[in-house]
Amino acid sequence: MAKIIAGVGTSHTPAIGAAIDLGKTKEPYWAPLFKGYEPAKQWMAETKPDVVIMVYNDHVNAFDFKIIPTFGLGCGDEFKIADEGWGARPVPSVQGYPELASHMIQSLVLDEFDMTIVNEMQVDHGLTTPMSLMFGQPKEWPCRVIPLAVNVIQYPAATGHRCFMLGKAIRRAVETWNEDLKVVIFGTGGMSHQIQGPRAGLVNREFDTNFLDGLSKDPDRLAKIPPLEYLREAGAEAIELVMWLIMRGALGEKAREVYRFYHIPASSTAVGTIILESES
Ligand code: DHB
Ligand code: FE
Repeated sequence: MAKIIAGVGTSHTPAIGAAIDLGKTKEPYWAPLFKGYEPAKQWMAETKPDVVIMVYNDHVNAFDFKIIPTFGLGCGDEFKIADEGWGARPVPSVQGYPELASHMIQSLVLDEFDMTIVNEMQVDHGLTTPMSLMFGQPKEWPCRVIPLAVNVIQYPAATGHRCFMLGKAIRRAVETWNEDLKVVIFGTGGMSHQIQGPRAGLVNREFDTNFLDGLSKDPDRLAKIPPLEYLREAGAEAIELVMWLIMRGALGEKAREVYRFYHIPASSTAVGTIILESES
């Protein structure tokens, strides 16, 4: 049986990916951030998942404003790296798992989640920054990746509660796949950030800390946070945090926090990471 054994929450700020690509990780500005990710990277190297389900959002690279799926599951066998305006990042393309992804679609739709089937798309920093942070710079990524692109760009985005419920349904979907696989699910984006307008640079450490605490101890509380509260308290782009609730929902009732790191700033954002191992 396939099993979701753990979840990783992490920011996906594009400047972090650029710092890796440009060899700046030891520079004074970046060193503390990358040091904080070392234990997380180590955990990943020891955990060796077969499959990663990467919950992320596209930033108008794969999807323009013609079609915007609320929940788009990548069912293709390969996802190429998007050119976000300064050339594609020099990282390997991502190998998917069409058989498992198709099974997930079947299970999720029958479970009354109206998924969009995405057979072809390019993936942007929302997916590649977390991959680089957790797997480093290998020639090929060491596992297959099923991307789940969530719309948080064009309002309305799905509520945190809907995301939490989708995570639970993803757990049911994976557990009915008859192959022994270790699956790690990511929730990416956040933490608090506002990258434009008069409030640009807004960071709310208290909100972020409460969010990390809630993931660990009381996700039901987080699932009740209304969309506007993310925006008001933690900046317009903090709505990306609803994706961490998909990750948390997919871990089952009980999860054990094994690592946490929080850092300000990267670019204009607060950066957080958390690793939770499923206990149920
Ligand atoms: C930035 C972009 C993002 O998508 C994000 O999640 C954080 C920061 C940026 O452009 O700085
Ligand atoms: Fe983003």
